[in-house]
Amino acid sequence: MKVAIFSTKKYDQESLDAANKEAGHELHYFETRLTSETCSLVKGFDAVCVFVNDSVDRTVIQAMAEGGVRLLALRSAGFNHVDLKAAKEFNITVARVPAYSPYAVAEHTLALILALNRHIHRAYNRVRERNFALDGLLGFDIYGKTIGVIGTGQIGTVFTKLMSGFGCELLGCDPNPSKDCKELGMKYVQLEEMFERSDIISLHCPLTPETHHLINGPAVSKMKDGVMLINTSRGAIVDTRALIDGLKSEKIGSVGLDVYEEEADLFFEDLSDEVIQDDVFARLLTFPNVLITGHQGFFTEEALKSIAETTLENITAFETGQGHIHKVG
Ligand code: NAI
Repeated sequence: MKVAIFSTKKYDQESLDAANKEAGHELHYFETRLTSETCSLVKGFDAVCVFVNDSVDRTVIQAMAEGGVRLLALRSAGFNHVDLKAAKEFNITVARVPAYSPYAVAEHTLALILALNRHIHRAYNRVRERNFALDGLLGFDIYGKTIGVIGTGQIGTVFTKLMSGFGCELLGCDPNPSKDCKELGMKYVQLEEMFERSDIISLHCPLTPETHHLINGPAVSKMKDGVMLINTSRGAIVDTRALIDGLKSEKIGSVGLDVYEEEADLFFEDLSDEVIQDDVFARLLTFPNVLITGHQGFFTEEALKSIAETTLENITAFETGQGHIHKVG
């Protein structure tokens, strides 16, 4: 298959080329994101392959169909960036990578919690400046604290296992409770109870119309004073303005983010010479108790290899009609 691959960095090319040695597809790499402005590039390809910040809306799907594309292969588990209704209408098959490494994201979530709690991001800079004062670096024992996990699928379950190792009380919220989490002693509760009781709340549910701005002003107001909030799932699950209000009033104690609702214009690029135009994001960067990483939860060697292999398996299965294709919808 002749495949147009968008939003590619050097590390994507390396992992996809390695996985393609056996598959033998014709891979064309584009650094640009796929959007309605760049969608003329898809003409003449059999398949298009995208990542999380490509915007596969109706215009893009129509351009794909008119250009002869029959398969959209996502290099992600989430598919909130694709207009599935339009894909069905234009007869484009959508495939994804349902699971690659839940450990990658769960371990990154833990890294954010530990760094935030013990202010490692601030301590690192202080020590480099030979400032060994401890004021402002006070943390708390994670042992014995209550952890609220929203979404206990693959990543949420691995994260729950990690937190259970710290000796935490575990609260879960998920329409499909996990047997593994229950065995670890997790108690499934309504969101309201989780907000009221949790010292740390971590989001691991998908972005859907139901979960859009799940964490908003009223939700924050129900939380414990000084709560730590972590989002490594999808940015728009959190209303960023409500987060900022919660931080300013000191209702929220600390925030760790690997995702941001308007990240498409920022993340994965080196913007160190540019002026940031997003004032909401710029405000977030000013808080000493906010730690942001640029959507790197998935970024481990194992996950990249697995994403590349499953993506090419999907493409081969679609072409040959043999093997399993991980279809969306
Ligand atoms: P999964 O599909 O295994 O688990 C999602 C869980 O959320 C399911 O158990 C589902 O029942 C639950 N859920 C759905 N709606 C809910 C709601 N309204 N309230 C509470 N729970 C709800 O997905 P997985 O693999 O665990 O991934 C979770 C999310 O992590 C993905 O949707 C994606 O957005 C994000 N992700 C982030 C990455 C990163 O690099 N930061 C990388 C990979 C995934």
